[in-house]
Amino acid sequence: MTAATFIALTLSILFALPHLSFATTTRNYKFDIRLKNITRLCHTRSVATVNGRMPGPRIVAREGDRVIVKVVNHIPNNVTLHWHGVRQLRSGWSDGPSYVTQCPIQTGQSYVYNFTIVGQRGTLWWHAHISWMRSSVYGPIIILPKLGVPYPFIKPYKEIPIIFGEWFNVDPEAVIAQSLQTGAGPNVSDAYTINGLPGPLYNCSTTKDTFKLKVKAGKTYLLRMINAALNDELFFSIAGHNLTVVDADAVYVKPLDTDILLITPGQTYNVLLRTKPSAPNATYLMTARPYATTASGTFDNTTVAGILEYVNPLRASSSSSKLPLLTPKLPNFNDTAFAANFTGKLRSLASAQFPANVPQTVDKRFFFTVGLGTKPCPKNQTCQGPNGTKFTATVNNVSWTLPTTALLQAHYFGQSKGVYTTDFPITPPFPFNYTGTPPNNTFVTNGTKVVVLPFNTSVELVMQDTSIQGAESHPLHLHGFNFFVLGQGFGNYDPSKDPSKFNLVDPVERNTVGVPDGGWVAVRFLADNPGVWFMHCHLEVHTSWGLKMAWVVNDGPLPNQKLPPPPSDLPKC
Ligand code: C2O
Repeated sequence: MTAATFIALTLSILFALPHLSFATTTRNYKFDIRLKNITRLCHTRSVATVNGRMPGPRIVAREGDRVIVKVVNHIPNNVTLHWHGVRQLRSGWSDGPSYVTQCPIQTGQSYVYNFTIVGQRGTLWWHAHISWMRSSVYGPIIILPKLGVPYPFIKPYKEIPIIFGEWFNVDPEAVIAQSLQTGAGPNVSDAYTINGLPGPLYNCSTTKDTFKLKVKAGKTYLLRMINAALNDELFFSIAGHNLTVVDADAVYVKPLDTDILLITPGQTYNVLLRTKPSAPNATYLMTARPYATTASGTFDNTTVAGILEYVNPLRASSSSSKLPLLTPKLPNFNDTAFAANFTGKLRSLASAQFPANVPQTVDKRFFFTVGLGTKPCPKNQTCQGPNGTKFTATVNNVSWTLPTTALLQAHYFGQSKGVYTTDFPITPPFPFNYTGTPPNNTFVTNGTKVVVLPFNTSVELVMQDTSIQGAESHPLHLHGFNFFVLGQGFGNYDPSKDPSKFNLVDPVERNTVGVPDGGWVAVRFLADNPGVWFMHCHLEVHTSWGLKMAWVVNDGPLPNQKLPPPPSDLPKC
């Protein structure tokens, strides 16, 4: 063989294997989970943090990078961390939901999460995935495009994470423990936060309790927005400014102009903010407050605010505090029409470079009801849920029971007996008018039940809200995959009429979708990732009550379609 043919042959092999890129950068992080005294709104509390910070540190990586995070648990509670929205292709051991993909990291123990970010760019986030620990253990994941690949929108002057949280004056672990004990809804939080700060609209907040974004005139800023609140969907707006959504859950979308955004727990948006051409004589509030469809009093109906301030070289900085402060107008807390209209407008970018690979055919169809219910009060106890019962929450009438060991291990070693069963109902056990007057008996059962899918199954899933304990919007989150949101509607899903309206061209692709209040949403995904994948309501109280289930995706026939063995430091239960 001549040298020239040899080179040509080598090159053609290299180009035929574009995934063999040499430039995989590894990003190493060390996360120490430890307690720290944190003061907000005149209340000081010992809070679980990562490296002493709340929100915790940012992870910054490029598409294609490997991320390695060594997590050391220095607190009395068990913890796990989840990399919300990261697809975890064949790295399910690093996904993190407790008792699903791993046993918790116990006090004094550590675990190394190790995953590669494939085909995703935008904003995601990480959070604790056990009980309500994520109330303080959370932070952003910033995924930049590959080196040299531009954004499909104007290059921003600066990028700013905006992460919403929820602050409790008391220990959130005590709040959920009490709710599970009495059967009543949990006490609500005391404030929302932007980047950890509640802002000026609360009693006893100081100026250092306010997030301030200083901007220059005539620039484009990229806001990387994350809703890390425990239990509340949020409306968000900035006075006097329009926003353009360009990315949802780390997938590009067609630019969507809006002055108000709705973001559910679990969701992320990249949003462009264009500042005014010259520094105005005003300062602007950015505010967020809940979208909730339950009775007022059952949720934290307060408003978090941050300040958008223009830097003006011609003005002494002290005088900017004398400028008028403008406040945005947000929808009413129960504005479901706004919610449906906003989410209904989102579309995938669906360009040649960033296509929407919507499954055009379906192998398996599922219809899941999601919603709240009740379970009987144990003997010798009085319960404070509806009519002396306890609240519960279900998917197809099954309320999830936490197993005592992790499902993924049980699955991998073929030891599911006594851990989970494979009889999760693919349709509701008995049909009824889901959004009308509920029947007297809704036959709630408990169990750890999964759906098993062969590798590469094309799945269509319709999720239907129920009105058994009052209709309510539920942000459903799927681990391990993105799904395409084909359609949504109010009332009961009609399998004979509604599919004709599905968008199979440019539906938004994401990992968390709101099942509309008293309505349904239809999604599709391709089960191309072997492992055990959790799906649950991202309102943490509903997850605590059992609104969760799991999919087991079997290995495919090829070597690169199989789940590798667990890492040696995988925690034991
Ligand atoms: Cu963001 Cu299963 O969670």
